[in-house]
Order: sequence, then C-alpha cells, then structure tokens
Amino acid sequence: MKSTFLSYILLHGEYDKRRGEIDVFEAIKGRRSCRRFLPEAIGNDVIETILEAAVWAPFPANQQSWEFIVIRDKGVIGKIYSHAEVCKKILFEKSGWKWIDTYSLSVLREVPVIIAVVGDPEKTGADRFLEGGGLGYHHACAAAIQNMLLAAHELGLGTLCDTLFDQDVTREILGIDLSKETIAMICLGKTDVDSVQTP
Ligand SMILES: Cc1cc2nc3c(=O)[nH]c(=O)nc-3n(C[C@H](O)[C@H](O)[C@H](O)COP(=O)(O)O)c2cc1C
Repeated sequence: MKSTFLSYILLHGEYDKRRGEIDVFEAIKGRRSCRRFLPEAIGNDVIETILEAAVWAPFPANQQSWEFIVIRDKGVIGKIYSHAEVCKKILFEKSGWKWIDTYSLSVLREVPVIIAVVGDPEKTGADRFLEGGGLGYHHACAAAIQNMLLAAHELGLGTLCDTLFDQDVTREILGIDLSKETIAMICLGKTDVDSVQTP
C-alpha cells in the first residue's frame, strides 16, 4: 500500500500530529472491489480498527443507526454462500441479465471474514416525521460502509460490498431481530490480486 497514513492514525488515534497530509483522493480512487481472497485469518486488532473507522461516519439525530456482526465461522459463511447461490438463480430468472450466469460466488466461500452491517429503522433521525422520509439509517450505514472499505484499503486488505441476500433468510442465519435490516455484507481479507472482475 502506498500511503499508510490513514492506517497509522486509525491504529494510534493521533489525528493532530500529521493533519493535512492524508491523501483522501488517493484512497478513494485506489479502492476497488475484490472478488478473490486468500484464506489467511484477519486479526481482531485489524477488525477493530476497521470498525472504528465505521463508527466515525455521520449518523442522523445522534442515533448510531448501525450494528456490525463479525462473521468468521466457516459454517455460517457457508450458509451465506449457499443462500447467495439461491438468490443468484432468482436474480437470473427475474432480471433476464445473462451475465449473472457467469458471475461466480466463490468469493463467498473463500473469504475469511464477513462483516454484516445491520441498520435500525427506528434510528433514522428527523426524516421519519417527513413525507417520503425514513431512510436516514440507510444513509448512515452507507457512510459507515464506505469508511470501512477505505480503511481496509489503507490497511492493505481487499473488500467487497455484497448485497445478494434475502432479508428473512439472513435474519435467520445471523439471528437478527425482525425490526432490523441487513444493509450489506462486507467481505474482507487479504488478496493477491489488485482487484478485478467487475461482474
Ligand atoms: C449497494 C451496493 C451493492 C453491491 N452489491 C454487490 C453484490 O451483491 N455482489 C458484488 O459482487 N458486488 C456488489 N457491489 C459492488 C459493485 O459491483 C462495485 O462496487 C462496482 O462494480 C464498482 O466497482 P469498484 O467497487 O471496483 O469500483 C455492490 C456495490 C454497492 C454500492
């Protein structure tokens, strides 16, 4: 990784010492979705650093709208993968998108860690009282996700924001409350490729 400054401040929390030196654009432009992961384990300290980046994201009305579930268990990851295969078939039939047939989900079998981002519609902020509102929790989760992707990138890890899942099945697999919603599954791990294979 070229720039390690974000990693440095996230790990040490010393924001003021080198303020102004961070190259945000480099990080934004350098991050790419990764669909091939090495099986190597990812340490808790790294996961904590990425989660810390997540919770620095903006959130509505002083309500942290998110929960994060760190999944390392191969059995659970296997269930997420099998379920994604079912969703892929549905998507293929309903969308008519021919490319889906060649889109491999092996990434979900290989990945060592998935962080499920779960949103709480109760914590959506002021817009719930307004016509057409109530999406604040989605926005907050999306901001947290981007922070995580960028932090992981700076730490030299690959990520993929996966949304190929059904809410009810995911609730069952992960034991998520009926009132909450899985916004995305963030696949995270080391990789030996630069990115690639946009479906
Ligand atoms: C809301 C959202 C959902 C996505 N869902 C999937 C997904 O289910 N599977 C997948 O392989 N990529 C998924 N992606 C990743 C996009 O395919 C990817 O970000 C896009 O092709 C641009 O490529 P880049 O991330 O390398 O810049 C998703 C991205 C977003 C923002």
